Amino acid sequence: MLKVLLASRNAGKLREFSELLPDFQFALWPKEAPELPETGAFFQDNALQKAEGARAWWRDHGPEPVDGVLADDSGLCVDALWGGPGVLSARFAPDLSEYRRKNQRLLDMLPEGAGRGARFVCVLAYLPWTGGAFTVSGSVEGSLAREHRGEDGFGYDPIFIPAGHDRTFGELPADIKHSLSHRARACAALRQRLT
Ligand code: IMP
Repeated sequence: MLKVLLASRNAGKLREFSELLPDFQFALWPKEAPELPETGAFFQDNALQKAEGARAWWRDHGPEPVDGVLADDSGLCVDALWGGPGVLSARFAPDLSEYRRKNQRLLDMLPEGAGRGARFVCVLAYLPWTGGAFTVSGSVEGSLAREHRGEDGFGYDPIFIPAGHDRTFGELPADIKHSLSHRARACAALRQRLT
């Protein structure tokens, strides 16, 4: 079984990785470890930056050996907002702590009559303990709901309706999200690359 350091403290992502990659054994990014910088302009840059930062820290401080490091950089890209918040999704509306309010602010930013097209994007960087990194990605097309709907999932899930459905990711059961999400597609690509 592959033992992988997951370079994230996002509880929503952690839950999804354990469901999407149940055959991986994960070491979690410890509380005492530093925040991993993500200063790049693209999802790929940030995913690689997080994976490399995590490997460097783990080399000196990690309590157990791992086979590799996995980092996820992801976000919601809204057509009417020129692809934003995109790579800045985690830092959108920093003055608000609750996603219900962040989501409302994002919906309020859509110009009257604008299209509601959006997509979730996920880039995964995998860095073997020794050797070079690679990235894989996945995305899911959809549209923005009129208001926050549903309490499942995390982040922007309650305002995103995947194409072909009429419920948001906040309303759909996790198994449906996992059959078509950006993260599920990136995980499928990761699995292919690793085998
Ligand atoms: P980052 O990858 O650490 O930059 O954070 C990505 C941010 O995008 C998260 O904090 C969420 O706000 C959002 N995000 C990424 N994936 C999802 C998802 O599957 N559902 C809802 N929000 C997501």
